[in-house]
Amino acid sequence: MPVPLGPANDHGFDEPIGLLTDCHRRVESFLGVLRRVAEGGPALSDERARALRESLRYFREAAPRHTADEEESLFPRMRRAGSNALSEVERLEADHAHAAPMHAEVERLGGAWLAKGTMDPADQARLLSTVIDLETLYREHIRAEESMVFPEAARLLSARELAEVGSEMRARRGLKP
Ligand SMILES: [Fe+2]
Ligand SMILES: [Fe+2]
Repeated sequence: MPVPLGPANDHGFDEPIGLLTDCHRRVESFLGVLRRVAEGGPALSDERARALRESLRYFREAAPRHTADEEESLFPRMRRAGSNALSEVERLEADHAHAAPMHAEVERLGGAWLAKGTMDPADQARLLSTVIDLETLYREHIRAEESMVFPEAARLLSARELAEVGSEMRARRGLKP
């Protein structure tokens, strides 16, 4: 199993909506890696351990920044601009809240697996089913964002507001303008 780096960004901070979409490709890619690791045997090879470690790190460190990009930078501006998609935005925020304990469970089980190098079948089945549940949740979540909410934001927000979203995303990653 190749060590995942995830798809690279196609967009810069001056194209925040495109950059948010790039993040979705990484979410999908790392969930796929987690699922394939969890579908294998209980003894972790070095390669599978590395793939698991990288994927857990992605969801621990990078994915929460994507959620913050939406909840703290994009959605509040859509609210202030009087978006027609606010019920959809609320549903997306509920998905984020619903996903959080599932991510915590994956982190807990995956971390224990890395620490021990093996895992009992019940825990492995639980890890796999949680990853599959996350894949199901994100499939519809990402579809709603990319087909409804992001296009609405692109129509509704001014160039200046979009630039502010991009610079907040950059600052969230500790990068200088
Ligand atoms: Fe989201
Ligand atoms: Fe998203």
